[in-house]
Amino acid sequence: MTDQKATNVHWHQGEVTREDRNQLLGQKGATLWFTGLSGSGKSTVAVALEKALFQRGKLTYRLDGDNVRLGINKNLGFSAVDRAENIRRIGEIAKLFVDSGVIALSSFISPYQADRDRVRELHAESDYAFIEIFVDCSLAAAEARDPKGLYKKARAGEIKNFTGIDDPYEAPQAAEIHLHTDKMSLEEEVELIINYLEGNGFIAAL
Ligand code: ADX
Repeated sequence: MTDQKATNVHWHQGEVTREDRNQLLGQKGATLWFTGLSGSGKSTVAVALEKALFQRGKLTYRLDGDNVRLGINKNLGFSAVDRAENIRRIGEIAKLFVDSGVIALSSFISPYQADRDRVRELHAESDYAFIEIFVDCSLAAAEARDPKGLYKKARAGEIKNFTGIDDPYEAPQAAEIHLHTDKMSLEEEVELIINYLEGNGFIAAL
C-alpha cells in the first residue's frame, strides 16, 4: 500500500457527475484489465476491441505497457517493486478514465495477483467497474510468436527477470473474462468481450 504523503489535501467535488458524463457518452465507464504473458495478445485484442467499439460510437482509451513505460513510468524497471508501482499508477490513471465515462483498455503483463487485486480494490472503493480479462496463452505459444524477439534474448540471458522465463506469472483465479488466444480467433475474442459489456449494461445492445 502506498502511503499518503501530502497533508491538508482534500477531494474537490465538481458539479458535473460521473453519471452525467456517462449519459453524455451513452455508455458506462469501466476498466478492462488485460493480463497475460508477453506475446499473449493483450495489445492485439485491445486494439481490435477499440476499433469495434469505436465503430459503434463508444469511446475507449488504451493504456499499454510499452507506451506507458516510455512516458509516465519511464523511471520504472521490472523488479517486483517497480512492477507493483507500474500497476498502481496505471490503476489510478485507469480510474480517472472510468470517472470520465471512458472505457479504459489496460494491457499490462501485471504478473502479480496482489497488484491486480489492489487495482480492483481501488476501483471498488469508488464503485468503479473493474473487469479482469485473462489473456491466456501457453508459454510455448507466446514464445513461438515472440513478436519482439524478447523471449529469444531472455533465453540467451540477455534480459533478466523476464516474465515466464526467470520471473513468475500468476494466472488470475477469478477473471471476469477468460480468453484462450492460442485457440480462439481474434473475432471470437472481441465478440466475447462485447457480449460481456452488453450483458452487464456498459454499452447498449445493438
Ligand atoms: S508489468 O509486468 O509491469 O505489467 P508491462 O506490461 O508494463 O509489465 O511491460 C511489459 C513489456 O516490457 C513487455 O511486453 C516487453 O516488451 C517489455 N519488457 C522488457 N523487459 C521485460 C521483462 N524483464 N519482463 C517482462 N517484460 C519486459
